[in-house]
Amino acid sequence: MTAILDTLDIPIGPPLGGEILHASDRATVIWGDCRDPQIIASVPREYGLLATDPPYGIGYRSNWSKQFNQLAGDDGTVDWPAVLGQWVGPDGTRSIGMADKRHVMVFGYDSEALAEPLRLSATTELIWDKVIPGSGDVSSAWATSHEPITFGVHFKRPSDRKSGRGALTARLRRGSVIRWPRPNGTLRHPTEKPWQVMAQLIESSTVRGDLVVDPCAGSGSTGVAAVLEGRRSFLVEVDRQYAELAVQRVRAAERIADQMQSA
Ligand SMILES: C[S@@+](CC[C@H](N)C(=O)[O-])C[C@H]1O[C@@H](n2cnc3c(N)ncnc32)[C@H](O)[C@@H]1O
Repeated sequence: MTAILDTLDIPIGPPLGGEILHASDRATVIWGDCRDPQIIASVPREYGLLATDPPYGIGYRSNWSKQFNQLAGDDGTVDWPAVLGQWVGPDGTRSIGMADKRHVMVFGYDSEALAEPLRLSATTELIWDKVIPGSGDVSSAWATSHEPITFGVHFKRPSDRKSGRGALTARLRRGSVIRWPRPNGTLRHPTEKPWQVMAQLIESSTVRGDLVVDPCAGSGSTGVAAVLEGRRSFLVEVDRQYAELAVQRVRAAERIADQMQSA
């Protein structure tokens, strides 16, 4: 009986191909599973930047984040580097996925895990200095106050990847530590990134009008930053509640961007 009752509460997943919750000149937000081949096929070709923060695969739950649902895809069963590899385009293809020699930024995974599936070279580890330590793992002597972000250049051709030939250096060369306080107080998502951090990453690797893609969008910080920086964004999020939150935040950013444009 209990087992039957439990099934009544199974969350309803997104439909195949996803559902477009928001589409404008500046941003697209899809409620969907980023492993869904139909969604991957709908990603605009030769986009300019992959900036994403996939689940860490460790069932992460700090004390304060217990107020949120367990993150989808965080139980270690999904090979996230392989999933992201599909988003840059299959090996041997030139015009599918992201454009050649453009940049990738992935939170929480190192270059060893990402280089092969995402066909990266010229990788660098960036650090987000959160300034305020999280409550995290209180058994450790050190309270973690940073997160690693892998930066890399995506090469379509293996020969270019080997030599690093054609590597597009960051337009504005900066230090590898980005210091910005982690959201503290009104949290809407357990691993929400400050849009100001995303804005710095986006600004240094793209030009106005470029398309920034985030297949694991969470509360939509990548989209907010892209819109405020005059870029376009394409976001996918599997949790309906977070996808709707991303829409609200992206719409608010669009209103600000419109006002800035007409001022
Ligand atoms: C680490 S969080 C991203 C947080 C985001 N950077 C922000 O600032 O809010 C990872 C997100 O990926 C989502 N996710 C997990 N599996 C997914 C899937 N198969 N397709 C799309 N999104 C997924 C989770 O629901 C979660 O919101």
